[in-house]
Amino acid sequence: MEYGPAPESTKEAQAWLEQRGRQFGLFINNEWSEAGELFASINPASGAKLADLTQGSAADVDRAVAAARAAQPGWQALGGHGRAKVLYAIARLMQKHARLFAVLETLDNGKTIRETRDVDLPLVARHFYYHAGWAQLQAEEFSDYRAVGVVGQIVPWNFPLLMLAWKIAPALAAGNTVVFKPAEFTSLTALLFADICVQAGVPAGVVNIITGDGRVGEAIVKHEGIDKLAFTGSTEVGRLIREASAGSGKKLSLELGGKSPFIVFEDADLDAAVEGLVDSIWFNQGQVCCAGSRLLVQESVQDKFLAKLRARMDKLTLGSPLDKSMDIGALVDPVQKQRIEGLVQSARDEGCTVYQPACELPADGSWFPPTLITGASTAAAVAQAEIFGPVLVAMSFRTPPEAVQLANNTVYGLAACVWTENISLALDVAPAIKAGVVWINTANQFDAACGFGGYRESGYGREGGREGMYEYMTALSEDARPAAPLLEPKAKAKAAVPAGSPFAIDRTAKLYIGGKQARPDGAYSRAIHGADGALIAEVGEGSRKDIRNAVEAAHKATGWTKATAHNRAQVLYYIAENLAARGEEFAARIAAMTGTKNAEKEVQASIERLFYWAAWADKYDGLAHQPPMHGITVALNEPLGVIGIVCPNESPLLGFISLVAPAIALGNRVVVVPSEAHPLSATDLYQVLDTSDLPAGVVNIITGSADELARTLATHGDIDAVWRHDGSAEGCAEVERLSASSLKRTWVGGAKGRDWYSTAQAGGRAVLAHASQVKNIWIPYGV
Ligand code: NAI
Repeated sequence: MEYGPAPESTKEAQAWLEQRGRQFGLFINNEWSEAGELFASINPASGAKLADLTQGSAADVDRAVAAARAAQPGWQALGGHGRAKVLYAIARLMQKHARLFAVLETLDNGKTIRETRDVDLPLVARHFYYHAGWAQLQAEEFSDYRAVGVVGQIVPWNFPLLMLAWKIAPALAAGNTVVFKPAEFTSLTALLFADICVQAGVPAGVVNIITGDGRVGEAIVKHEGIDKLAFTGSTEVGRLIREASAGSGKKLSLELGGKSPFIVFEDADLDAAVEGLVDSIWFNQGQVCCAGSRLLVQESVQDKFLAKLRARMDKLTLGSPLDKSMDIGALVDPVQKQRIEGLVQSARDEGCTVYQPACELPADGSWFPPTLITGASTAAAVAQAEIFGPVLVAMSFRTPPEAVQLANNTVYGLAACVWTENISLALDVAPAIKAGVVWINTANQFDAACGFGGYRESGYGREGGREGMYEYMTALSEDARPAAPLLEPKAKAKAAVPAGSPFAIDRTAKLYIGGKQARPDGAYSRAIHGADGALIAEVGEGSRKDIRNAVEAAHKATGWTKATAHNRAQVLYYIAENLAARGEEFAARIAAMTGTKNAEKEVQASIERLFYWAAWADKYDGLAHQPPMHGITVALNEPLGVIGIVCPNESPLLGFISLVAPAIALGNRVVVVPSEAHPLSATDLYQVLDTSDLPAGVVNIITGSADELARTLATHGDIDAVWRHDGSAEGCAEVERLSASSLKRTWVGGAKGRDWYSTAQAGGRAVLAHASQVKNIWIPYGV
């Protein structure tokens, strides 16, 4: 039996547009500006114009930032309860006007009313409720943090209102004010949200909304009055934003693209998996950053599964998104359609099989049928590029390790689905997948309590949950840092001399790579002078090649990541013990290098710091969230992988230990550039490390020029994060800029110093957060 059309009425939404004269200015300081240079907002399902919107200018961004800046102290002073009441009011109003919002979103974006009504709007309201809660509890739960200040937020068009909620709710809860830019294709619900803000009692200047294209985004990114940037969109623009904001001191979170695997094992409930796949790749026409766009199905059930899938595809309904019985709506814009068509054609040209059910596409608007591609190679464009459309690429695998290897064969790492009835298999595979979210026997689940965000080139930072709140706060320990480094870096070491030349002194400390002392590749060394100017030793002049070798050694040391936290703690304690046994020697060396009278104190502080991070190693637990679905979401803090660390010049032993110990405590492996001016505390550590059961390759030490080595670390394709804390503002900016190509995480100290003796400044969860990323694993529970 065919269903008749069941269209949702657009009366209320059209009336709202009419009432606004189908023309919108910008929302700044709770006032609407006159409309300026206009661009049209189009209904992609029909091609009809909905309204004219204003292209914001740099001057408009200036005004919005000024309003946000002026409003921030007052918003902060309102207190947690005051802000909670406002967020709660927004949540209530969103529920009250859910229908209007849902219809407007469908008109503007082309996504089906079923989705806007049943998914987007409930999640939006939930997000504001949930964050009203964090505002209320902020003083108690985040007492070591403060609001960042003024936040610039830029979102894409695929979930216009939901992305707005994901951005604005936590920012406001934490006490920030915002300058928000919706995507140019889909700004209408953000403009309607401005009305809600006024009704909910959001004070003037707290939320400012500037419409327009990427130029508005660029103005926000480079604005000096903005303290934090939060972006969701393409990896390409994410990179530009990383580059443009490098060295500005702005906090940054990026939620970028994906090419998420959907893994079906032979023992899976195949019918359920087919439904999961429908939700995964045909939800929102596949225009979803975490869409399960790569089907990996076990060979033994491949034919059966694909047959079921094709049969299901034949039943998908495509048509007017306002029709409540439609599964698939319109694409957001003809530009997207062309892009998708191009990619699907490339698959045809390469001899792939392209399956599309026979469905009639409406004459007007932008449409694309559900599509299944088989026979693609793993390197094919359709298997690697984010298509961002209703296109699934299917491949097969034989064994679980092969499934994991294929799943990870992408530059992205946003999400993954694992389908199997075998819980051991599911929980074996989930940790092996490099992705920020793993859904077990479910797909595309979201909740305000559960963090969402990527690994690798899918970006960094999390939205939702406790971890999402940290993105909008600054640790008070950062404020306590002195304005300038505690110790000026010493003059650069003298020109390198070839090792073994008659001018080199006997004792030349080598590099430490893969648990062995290694001569620098270039055979050069650099002279290290003591506080009195006398030459006290030489150290190897590390080069690009040495860093490469060190990274290779670090990658091999995977056993460290798999070791238990208890074991890692034991090794840190053991290092402390062995350091203590040679305390006097280390103190004498520090005194000789730096001339400090506090050398013994530094050694003692280093030993205590090792104990401190050993203590943390098995206590940085994750969380078990209980979202509204019948399941639990286990949020685990996973190590990043290989971290490149450039140590401070001052406190050469304590600075080194303070950065290396937390990184390895969580299971990372490190390539460390010790203090450029005083590297001997690090080279003296080789023997301590050798005798402390630290596996080879976990800590690799490359002495030499901090600038040059940092550059190599930041551009290296196989390093996951770079930390730089040597007080060089330009060096830190360069690390941030160069990290953009592979979207590495960075943690830089800038020109400000850090009191390495102070646990408040050098310790705490904020440091561990830099050494880890959260993986949220959704598991059915009590169903
Ligand atoms: P985009 O990344 O260009 O746009 C996202 C937002 O960034 C929009 O608000 C846009 O105006 C703004 N923007 C553009 N250039 C900017 C700049 N230089 N500085 C600051 N802001 C800027 O994404 P677009 O062009 O809409 O879509 C292109 C492709 O990106 C899609 O086909 C898809 O593959 C991917 N994409 C991924 C998304 C995700 O959530 N992962 C979301 C949207 C797009």
